[in-house]
Amino acid sequence: MNKRPICDYEGSRYRTEFWTAARDYEDHVERVALRALLPPTGRTLVEIGAGFGRLGDLYQGYETVVFMDYARTQLEQAVARWGEGGIGGEPHYRYVQADFYALPFVAGLFDAVTLIRTLHHATDAPAVLREISESLAPQGVLVLEFANKHNLKALGRYLLHRQAWSPFDHEPVEFVELNFDFHPNGLGNNCAASGWSVKRCVPSPISAQVF
Ligand SMILES: C[S@@+](CC[C@H](N)C(=O)[O-])C[C@H]1O[C@@H](n2cnc3c(N)ncnc32)[C@H](O)[C@@H]1O
Repeated sequence: MNKRPICDYEGSRYRTEFWTAARDYEDHVERVALRALLPPTGRTLVEIGAGFGRLGDLYQGYETVVFMDYARTQLEQAVARWGEGGIGGEPHYRYVQADFYALPFVAGLFDAVTLIRTLHHATDAPAVLREISESLAPQGVLVLEFANKHNLKALGRYLLHRQAWSPFDHEPVEFVELNFDFHPNGLGNNCAASGWSVKRCVPSPISAQVF
């Protein structure tokens, strides 16, 4: 059983308190990035840390879509939004409550995995990536969005001695408890260790890469 700390969204008002109209731009830009990176069709897709299923409409080209999250109350909102599906060519939707450190899927199940705004809650990102690599089919695709510590603001603040941590360092930085920013090369090395290579990379509000 996983002993690592978990950023628990159980009972949180993530949908209504975080995704206010002021964040429409972020939502929009993420959708542009995801459309550019995710293969539009496939058999099976899972979003790890899917929350309330915000991005479900971008997964319409898949036969089966699994929303997986640790927080049951997030998944209940996803169920209310997407239901069972399977009508008129829409995907079949499935909901799985699980921990990303111990994915309950058979090896090689998924054609595509998305991890959006979620890895930043992992104290042990390499362990999460190892789990995902087991669940992906051999030619499968991971779309990974992560908070990038190597950004202009962090570089400026560091060079002006207004920030102690280095944006050049490849280790993640915990900027708030259980919230981490990653260095793209550090994460790239973690992915390489799981047997992936970067296929495409686009900047978004945070950074998205396809492995
Ligand atoms: C910032 S939300 C992102 C939700 C969704 N991906 C989106 O972009 O709207 C992070 C999600 O990660 C989930 N999460 C955090 N730790 C997790 C873990 N150990 N296993 C599975 N999900 C986890 C939370 O419950 C939450 O729903």
